[in-house]
Amino acid sequence: MSAVNTSICRLVVLVSGRGSNLQAIVQAARRQGPAARVCAVVSSNPDAAALAWARREGLQAQVVAHRDYPSRDQFDQALAQAIDAHQPDYVLLAGFMRVLGAAFVQRFNGRLINIHPSLLPAFPGLHTHQQALATGVQWHGCTVHFVTPVLDHGPIVAQGIVPVLDTDTPDSLAQRVLGVEHRVYAQVVQWLAQKRVTLDAFGRVRVAGVASRSFFPASSDAGTFQEIA
Ligand code: GRF
Repeated sequence: MSAVNTSICRLVVLVSGRGSNLQAIVQAARRQGPAARVCAVVSSNPDAAALAWARREGLQAQVVAHRDYPSRDQFDQALAQAIDAHQPDYVLLAGFMRVLGAAFVQRFNGRLINIHPSLLPAFPGLHTHQQALATGVQWHGCTVHFVTPVLDHGPIVAQGIVPVLDTDTPDSLAQRVLGVEHRVYAQVVQWLAQKRVTLDAFGRVRVAGVASRSFFPASSDAGTFQEIA
């Protein structure tokens, strides 16, 4: 009989702003009971609402501000030290607005996960909702992926999709995508806590016992889309 791995999945969350994905991650980790714990929240921005929320929740929260370091390498090193102090199994980027260097990404290879508000590989970078509207795509969404040195690129863990409406503005689309972001990140936290996520020899993600890793919003907030007759 194989031993059951009951160790806690330790998570460090990196933030820079509002922190709604952080909240979804923390709530998802709490639902896992002793299987998962957000050990620390690290913010690149001392004024981030995410940081204030984390402190109110009694989470260990600290600032590593890029403007306190003369170079990106030095910032990355300080950030890596802050993370290593908590010995996380995974580092989750949740609205973290700094581009991380290759050495940092390599150091946390296979343990660094990001959420991006588009269906990658479409629309890497900023202003994804404007890009989606400008190009006329009919489906948009979010991607949770392992981080590689290439910006907004890497093995896809899960995607959430929303229909694009002719009446959408960048803000309305962003709001609808954000609701799906929270659910997808929460699901990924559960999978991580259950130790079901692996990368295969081709660098693709596998989640044990899970055949589909694509998520639709609940019908009540899906907007309208055509059913296939
Ligand atoms: C999210 O849309 C995330 O995908 C993007 O930045 C936004 C952060 O929102 N990278 P929040 O701070 O999690 O509320």
